[in-house]
Amino acid sequence: MMRSITKLGAAALLALGLGTGVAAASEGGAIPHESWSFSGAFGTFDRAALQRGYQVYKEVCAACHSMQYIAFRNLTDIGFSEAEVKALAAQYEYPALDESGEPITRKGLPSDHFVSPYANELAAKAANGGAIPPDLSLMAKARAGGPDYIHAILTGYVEPPQGFVLNPGSNFNAHFPGQQIAMPKPLNDDQVTYADGTKATVEQMSRDVSTFLMWTAEPKLEERKNIGVKVMGFLGILTVFLYLSYRRVRRKVHGH
Ligand code: HEC
Repeated sequence: MMRSITKLGAAALLALGLGTGVAAASEGGAIPHESWSFSGAFGTFDRAALQRGYQVYKEVCAACHSMQYIAFRNLTDIGFSEAEVKALAAQYEYPALDESGEPITRKGLPSDHFVSPYANELAAKAANGGAIPPDLSLMAKARAGGPDYIHAILTGYVEPPQGFVLNPGSNFNAHFPGQQIAMPKPLNDDQVTYADGTKATVEQMSRDVSTFLMWTAEPKLEERKNIGVKVMGFLGILTVFLYLSYRRVRRKVHGH
């Protein structure tokens, strides 16, 4: 009995040691905290930033990354009109069948989900030196730090410290775990021309696309916060009434 307990303890210690070792080896630089319009109990999405972020995703990231959970019609949530959504969807082609069952392509519809850039994972791997660009729909929820992390990765392409040995096909990134990432620096100043005239610096585009990815990961964020605030208000009022009725009852009982 004693022996197996000691063994268990040793195994646990070993696992802990290994665990921290692995964590230390794969740690990227600390992720800087950004301030976002959607943070805090009253946070809301900045519609203009969301639309700019969509433009960055569409013109830059979509060349390599899929976004399977978002359909064109969802874009009405971020301020696009039905007509704009229709026109955006029609820019893409989807496989279909004609009346005789022959494969054809048709124009995209608002109900279509975003197209993937590659036919399958193998093709994605082959095009990216063995690394698969992950689907971005839920990325802002999948990684610790969420939008802070995405922003940090996109702005984290700096010169490697002296003597840092990069693996072939890797790029130095100060914030990616292990500091080597297969994704080449995706954003450079003026990479896109913003429809609203905002200057497209790397910082601006990174913020906008991170905001957009927060929305794709949690489109109901505003509703959730709104309900939270209402519930807190309701509980507050309820507390006041309960206290008043308690005093009344107490007064009656004690006859003061
Ligand atoms: C040329 C192709 C390419 C483009 C363009 C590109 N990426 Fe990537 N991205 C990749 C690849 C490949 C990986 C996988 C990297 C790895 O595992 O080392 C990746 C990984 C990522 C990751 C995940 C990091 C993680 O923690 O796993 C994020 C976030 C990301 N990209 C965001 C973006 C955004 C946002 C854009 C547009 C501004 C973009 N990417 C443009 C190829 C690309």
